[in-house]
Amino acid sequence: MQAQTYPIPSSVKDVETKIDSVLSLMTLEEKIGQLVLYNGSWDLTGPASNLDTKQKEENIKNGRVGAMLNVLSVEATTEAQNLVMENSRLKIPLLFGYDVIHGYKTIFPVPLGETASWDLEAMEEAARIAALESVAHGVNWTFSPMIDISRDARWGRIMEGSGEDPYLTALVGVAKIKGYQGTDLSNPLTIAATAKHFAGYGFAEAGRDYNTVHIGENELHNTILPPFKAAVEAGVASIMNSFNDLDGIPATGHKVLQRDILKEEWKWDGFIVSDWASITEMIYHGFAEDKTHAAEIAMKAGSDMDMEGGSYEEGMKKLVEKGKIDEKMLDDSVKRVLRIKFKMGLFDDPFRYSNPGVLKTISFEDHLKTARDIGKKSIVLLKNKGNLLPLRPSVKNIAVIGPLADDKDTPIGNWRAQGEANSAVSVLEGIKRAVGGGINVSYAKGAALGVGERSFLMPLEINKTDRSGFAEAIAVAKKAEVVVMVLGEDAFQSGEGRSQVEIDFAGVQQELLEEIYKVNKNIILVLINGRPMDISWSAQNLPGILVAWQLGSESGNAIADVLFGNYNPSGKLPVSFPRSVGQEPLYYNQKNTGRPSNPEHVTFSGYTDSEKDALYPFGFGLSYTTFDYSEPQLSALEMNAGEELELSFTLRNTGKVKGKEVVQLYLRDVVSSATRPMKELKGFQLVELNPGEAKTIKFIIDEKMLQFYSANRVWESESGEFEIMVGGNSRDLQKLSFRLNK
Ligand code: NOJ
Repeated sequence: MQAQTYPIPSSVKDVETKIDSVLSLMTLEEKIGQLVLYNGSWDLTGPASNLDTKQKEENIKNGRVGAMLNVLSVEATTEAQNLVMENSRLKIPLLFGYDVIHGYKTIFPVPLGETASWDLEAMEEAARIAALESVAHGVNWTFSPMIDISRDARWGRIMEGSGEDPYLTALVGVAKIKGYQGTDLSNPLTIAATAKHFAGYGFAEAGRDYNTVHIGENELHNTILPPFKAAVEAGVASIMNSFNDLDGIPATGHKVLQRDILKEEWKWDGFIVSDWASITEMIYHGFAEDKTHAAEIAMKAGSDMDMEGGSYEEGMKKLVEKGKIDEKMLDDSVKRVLRIKFKMGLFDDPFRYSNPGVLKTISFEDHLKTARDIGKKSIVLLKNKGNLLPLRPSVKNIAVIGPLADDKDTPIGNWRAQGEANSAVSVLEGIKRAVGGGINVSYAKGAALGVGERSFLMPLEINKTDRSGFAEAIAVAKKAEVVVMVLGEDAFQSGEGRSQVEIDFAGVQQELLEEIYKVNKNIILVLINGRPMDISWSAQNLPGILVAWQLGSESGNAIADVLFGNYNPSGKLPVSFPRSVGQEPLYYNQKNTGRPSNPEHVTFSGYTDSEKDALYPFGFGLSYTTFDYSEPQLSALEMNAGEELELSFTLRNTGKVKGKEVVQLYLRDVVSSATRPMKELKGFQLVELNPGEAKTIKFIIDEKMLQFYSANRVWESESGEFEIMVGGNSRDLQKLSFRLNK
């Protein structure tokens, strides 16, 4: 390991002065180098020659590379950093990035799943652990959180975000950023976060990944940007732009988004990293002629770092020399990258995140406990007819059936970082561990789901023909008092590039379910999923439904905790479950339209062959207890600008067991200069109550809560009537009205 010889006098303390002093020493090539991000893919033992090409290695040695991704061990990052330290002129340390999305080695629920916990502290803790495990393997920069609002269940990446609501997504994003970055980026046990994808990626038309996005200014500002604004305010180190074209302009080449809004208006001083080759992909968008042209567009639009696209390497030098790009513009991008490196303390010690000692301090056992804790909190109880759940000790014969019942891999989900294949606790294992003696647990797979190669990049083959396990499953079901039916999606049915036109049970699962139902109606469906699914048949016919998502390393234990009542479910859906795929995109915060309803005729905004609302709405989730909301009161019915109102009511646990309720507050601006949703989440509280216990719940309504991006193209509130609603989900709400006077 080379001692640090960086030439900044120790008397210089101010980061901006340090950045300027480094910049003043840099050649044009070295500046461009800081804006280049290489894929490393070095394995644990990989020598530098494992790089894609000798040329890449030469470039690293010459200080022509600012960061690498997928370099995954302390040895490998040390080796790469050494190439820079030993060979380059200025010894500017590399950053090491990786997609640490829901854990590094200990895998937590997929992000959509963990959002169902609504537990910001738990999500922050999961991110802190993910950061620690990353650092222990040399990684100091994650490409997470994904804070794209996603309302289309067909879009495979819906699993990677926090669902359909901007307010909830913003809070989860901030919690994750805090968890990854801590309070001080220079703490060598934290990592830099990346909010992504800027912007609109979740609105890909028809849910087809990478597809064009058509949204207007109103939607952009009111729905898509708020989580990014919150991320900026939370001090996120980097932001990744997106693959999509937004109303005719690829996001990577979108000046208004990146330069005007993010950097100028929001005064954010971190750096923008492109998505994988998204600068070069502007050629395929038909927006750039070649790499040089793409580089020019991206730089002018504010994209700072080029991930694996090679456009900046190929074109930037020429562009500056020909005067097409002002070197000052380039300098600003370089300074942004250097700023984060300084804040991370990399100039003080380039090897501070390649410390083999960190791994030795980690208790993976403790991390698994946290994964189980957040896992159980993320499960959503959708149906519980006749209080079938929790399973009583008197139940002596349980059948566990389904392709995912003993699957140890799917719960690890997609975007699994270094989560080991087949390392999760399966539902069957969890149940077997939970039951005492005297209870008979029988198992039958019934049928396979994903067959053949299962991997991040390759298409997944679904079993559509093999029903040979049905007979055994039927026999097992016949003998059981209760059937725990574990169905849903393979890990590789959701994630990047995994768009689907169907969102019901793939393959022969529905057939299997109906065959089992013929012989035993006491079925609890445990849904393992990365997206909202069409479970209409189950909702109509089965007595019990748990949404368990792809729940991570401790999946089966967490599910058993809920099945047997060791944990009373408290999760609430962060995304609407539709009646059919034809309703997608579906979200609760819709606008009223000019024809909200007229059941007598067909000329209203609905469907002739379906209800228009969700089967299970946003915010919905049952408990083993019941909660009563008293009539809410407002401290006044009018509010002047600058004043606050207080809304209060009593929440009572009216059931027999302790439980936690996610109390939700929604608002509607009744008449406004630009149309507003019928309801928007504006607050929530997690309230735990013992049986019979009651608590006064209060929410403060201030003017900021009433603001939106108005027809004046600014965030402001407007006088007039507002409706304020409280309840345990977005559908069953009590409503009050008040006026804002300005
Ligand atoms: C492409 C994905 O869109 C992005 O989210 C990810 O961070 C990069 N690939 C790097 O793997």
